[in-house]
Amino acid sequence: MAHHTETGESFREQEAPVRDYQEGKKPTQEDERAKKFNDLERVIRRYSTEAGQLIRILQKAQDIFGYLPEDVQAYIAEKLEIPVSEVNGVVTFYSLFITEPKGKNMLNICMGTACYVKGAQVLMDTLKEQLKIDEGETTPDGLFTIKSTRCVGACGLAPILVANENVHGKISSGEIKKIIQTFRKGESVENQKH
Ligand code: FES
Repeated sequence: MAHHTETGESFREQEAPVRDYQEGKKPTQEDERAKKFNDLERVIRRYSTEAGQLIRILQKAQDIFGYLPEDVQAYIAEKLEIPVSEVNGVVTFYSLFITEPKGKNMLNICMGTACYVKGAQVLMDTLKEQLKIDEGETTPDGLFTIKSTRCVGACGLAPILVANENVHGKISSGEIKKIIQTFRKGESVENQKH
């Protein structure tokens, strides 16, 4: 059922269920989801009055949901009264956005020019082969997500792998395999060696 807000915006009830939490009752998954949509609603209200805020709204939405699934994109499009294709175009253009749940460890290969000429594609292929997933996907155990990124400003150390917050320079396929093993063992890999 469609509702209209004071500003004339409309949204479907099932897309933004609002529930009151009963004190002492553990929130269900549905409650959590409803809360996230309420948070998103607040973000949209705050930023939608200013022009050119789509990227900011998407960033905030990703902070809230952890990623940007289709229903979240559709909700934002409806609230901003723009086509879903426009929202989706921005989401797929910027590498910071992800459309699937993020793994515990984010492995980003820099695909900027300097890294590319130093073999970034080979590194990406190694990651895909080792983890048996494609770029933008997460392993079924939820441990890894692989992504490509634009230049991270460390071209002198190309090629670059950014593993979570850590930048690994002059990285080789062999070292990537070791990093994966280390993460699998549950150890943290310290900042880059070079
Ligand atoms: S191109 Fe990779 S850090 Fe600049």
